[in-house]
Amino acid sequence: MTRRSFRRALLSGLSAVAVTLALAPLTPSATAAATDYQAENATISQGVVESNHAGYTGTGFVNYDNLVGSYVEWTVTAPAGPADVTLRYANGTTAARPLDFTVNGVAGAVGITFPGTGAWTTWATKTVRLTLAAGTNTIRARATTADGGPNADKLTVTPTSDDTTPPSAPGNLAVSNIKSNAATFTWTAATDNVSVVRYEINRGGNVLKVVDANTLSATVDTLTSNTAYDVSIGAFDAAGNASQQSNVVAFTTPPSGDTQPPTAPGNLRATSTTSNSVGLAWNASTDNSGGIAGYDVYQGTAKVSTTTSLTTTITNLTPNTQYSFTVKARDPDGNASAASNTVSVQTSSTGTGGIPGYDRDIAKVDLGWSVAFLPDGSGSALVTERDRFEVLLVTSTGQKTTLGKVPGAVTTTGEGGLLGLALSPTFSTDHWVYFYHTAANDNRIVRMKYENGVLATTSSPVLTGLAKNRYHNGGRLRFGPDGKLYASVGDAKNSGNSQNRGSLNGKILRINPDGTPPSDNPFISEGGNNRYVWALGFRNPQGLAWDSRGQLWSTEFGENSQDELNLIQKGGNYGWPACEGTIGDCGGFIAPKRTWSTSQAGPSGVEIVNDWIYIAGVTGRQLWVTQINAAGNGVGTPQAVFSGRWGRLRSITKTPDGALWLTSTNDDMNGGTPSGIDNVIVRLKFP
Ligand code: GCU
Ligand code: CA
Ligand code: CA
Repeated sequence: MTRRSFRRALLSGLSAVAVTLALAPLTPSATAAATDYQAENATISQGVVESNHAGYTGTGFVNYDNLVGSYVEWTVTAPAGPADVTLRYANGTTAARPLDFTVNGVAGAVGITFPGTGAWTTWATKTVRLTLAAGTNTIRARATTADGGPNADKLTVTPTSDDTTPPSAPGNLAVSNIKSNAATFTWTAATDNVSVVRYEINRGGNVLKVVDANTLSATVDTLTSNTAYDVSIGAFDAAGNASQQSNVVAFTTPPSGDTQPPTAPGNLRATSTTSNSVGLAWNASTDNSGGIAGYDVYQGTAKVSTTTSLTTTITNLTPNTQYSFTVKARDPDGNASAASNTVSVQTSSTGTGGIPGYDRDIAKVDLGWSVAFLPDGSGSALVTERDRFEVLLVTSTGQKTTLGKVPGAVTTTGEGGLLGLALSPTFSTDHWVYFYHTAANDNRIVRMKYENGVLATTSSPVLTGLAKNRYHNGGRLRFGPDGKLYASVGDAKNSGNSQNRGSLNGKILRINPDGTPPSDNPFISEGGNNRYVWALGFRNPQGLAWDSRGQLWSTEFGENSQDELNLIQKGGNYGWPACEGTIGDCGGFIAPKRTWSTSQAGPSGVEIVNDWIYIAGVTGRQLWVTQINAAGNGVGTPQAVFSGRWGRLRSITKTPDGALWLTSTNDDMNGGTPSGIDNVIVRLKFP
């Protein structure tokens, strides 16, 4: 048999089964039937047939003599081309017994090891890929060490296809007999160097139907009424090579005449609420025929969203306003269901800004370093405790639950520990909470799932390898309006880091939620750590907040003279260590928008409400308040409030209902858990 005619016979045999297998995953190359060749029937040089160890197939196995050059040689029949050749063997010793394989006297696979199998009665297989000639071949497996070969049971030969040429595209696809649920397609055959084995009728990239290679006309009877279709057809050969698609036919099925609407969607509920958006979810409807074509969401009587999924988020809402929503399902013929239950939701307030007053105490905590409110309308927040490494759930009325610890968090006996906290912008669906913490060898950003009231016990790394030190660990995390995660990272007491774009320290970093660097970061093309850098030249930056224009503002702790409030530019260099505030060698660096003497501020958390900026002062033990100017490029003269009232102030965070939570971190200088839980979370109110 010639190579080609053998393969034709082989593949036409396969094509009969290909249709039934067509929806199984395709293997890259088709394989022919495997053939076994027993070692005891092969030509043996310096070895004997034995049967004293159980588990062999056939009538025995070959025990190679223990010397170099002993071999077994099989005569096998195959088509030309590659074949997987599998030796079943046992090796009751602990030393591997290597063999060289030759095909028709030519080296095929050399130095193949046959490791110990644990016992002479324990049989294993090892496969090598050999290239065979058409027809009869001799395959010799020759021992290359003084131990001889392993005991050899049998050889299995499985020819594999080397066809890489796809069929031509089928042509002249036409559609006829279009009904509400069916249509007939005809086309002209594809051609192939070997043979076509099947056609797939596709809607876009999805398979509607598979037919065999002899079929050039087929009816698909699983179509949906009143629906637009783009259909094409592709051909496959036995090796799995796919043709290009045929021409596309576009048509719309007629309505079915069905007049029965779907059931009403159930359990419509609000899954998140902000000042200008409401997330909704509902349970699926069912229909008598044809399934559900989609859902229409109504705000009062106005249709505001159309979707095929079971969730949507309504945007552009007004703060502090009551809204009612319903959802209806549609079947393919356009029959609309009755409305779901009505859900009424009040958007949160954006607050007003201005000089805040004290409202009430919320809770006493250890060192509350960061606060992040849940987007579920509950008014509750997650809070990190720096030195206890605990994550608290604190309700709007001050009920406190310890959810767990962030694993691997350690103290620096200084300013490190469990620091920043941020919720994924899509938290209501992905449940990720991000943390910035000190670990055994670095500072790192990790994320943990917080789902159904349970904080996971494990974290996954987002970005690691930020240098740590007793001091200057930065630590604030916040998601920007662009959905990217921003982190403020201190210089870890090595001011050389700050001007080195290859260091993650002394920087504001910008990170995709999955930990990869965003492609529009300023130094992305430089590779390495540089890809994460958003702005550089910082000593110990901490606060991060965005104004109404989407501009990022950040605070920075100075060395001996000046603390800073900076307006952050992409790729901007803020001068440390050459320049501190406005002092030093400041030419060519971006100047701060405001400075304080280091005894007055020590600015950590920042919040912005209606372009009023609130800064929690650690060293100064007061809250600084100022307003962004009309041009958006500067601030007014800051005013200090609550001076000395709660001591060292660490974080300031707007609440979903238009107020502020302020935390203190007294006794935070040297790490370690203070004896009393005497730091505060207090609520401030706008005038
Ligand atoms: C033992 C074993 C044989 C094996 C031989 C060897 O004698 O029973 O089956 O071939 O060891 O080490 O090669
Ligand atoms: Ca032997
Ligand atoms: Ca082919």
